Amino acid sequence: MIALRDVERVYGTGNLVVPALRGVSLDIGAGEFVTIMGPSGSGKSTLLNIIGCLDLPTGGGYALAGNDVEGMGDRELARIRNRLLGFVFQTFNLLPRITAAQNVELPLIYRGLGAFERHRRVKSALRDVGLEMRANHRPPQLSGGEQQRVAIARALVGDPSVLLADEPTGNLDSATGEEIMAIFRRLNAQQNLTIIQVSHSSAAAYHGKRIVHLRDGMVIREEMLSPAEPILASSGT
Ligand SMILES: Nc1ncnc2c1ncn2[C@@H]1O[C@H](COP(=O)(O)OP(=O)(O)O)[C@@H](O)[C@H]1O
Ligand SMILES: [Mg+2]
Repeated sequence: MIALRDVERVYGTGNLVVPALRGVSLDIGAGEFVTIMGPSGSGKSTLLNIIGCLDLPTGGGYALAGNDVEGMGDRELARIRNRLLGFVFQTFNLLPRITAAQNVELPLIYRGLGAFERHRRVKSALRDVGLEMRANHRPPQLSGGEQQRVAIARALVGDPSVLLADEPTGNLDSATGEEIMAIFRRLNAQQNLTIIQVSHSSAAAYHGKRIVHLRDGMVIREEMLSPAEPILASSGT
């Protein structure tokens, strides 16, 4: 699904260059749930933005679902983002003056879907995050956790292959963060949605299946997590 080869991203020019990514190679398959961790400034957001086609590498190669991303124009990048990717951010990024349902509907309006199909999908996306009862509330009338669930519904409504989340629990208390992670886990398990999140929190990371540790723009370590380690089964035989 995602193949990064020696990806570099340098910001700035001349004497002011900042190497944010220094040769990242990473493969992420369909149905994975990956958490990118690392200290502040290690390049996590830069990496997620490149994976999300919001930014392009300055070196190396990136293929998303078999499409080589280098060399694509803005219009093509926007099309691939729209068709394949859903985004969730730390600060929710909802429009405050329209309802939850209208926020979720927006990407479908941009896509040119008819009203009947839009409403069907909005309802189903709000149901997926357990918020159908809040459809007509505006974001300021919702708790932080509810706002993030609206943002997840908005990310899901276009039926993406990959969900990308940058610190999705960063503005939430730990109990609410756990609820958001439970939704991610369920989407990953039931819909085989590929999830890639950036997180500071190992509590959040342990909901996933794999952790990629970044430092100074490089992958320094990876961990595979297996929730059902067959310790007992292997001891007797
Ligand atoms: N738009 C930008 N212009 C210049 N430098 C940037 C920009 N975005 C990020 N950086 C720098 O790149 C490095 C990695 O940043 P970032 O990917 O945001 O790290 P993280 O998300 O891990 O905190 C940092 O040194 C940061 O200051
Ligand atoms: Mg960041």
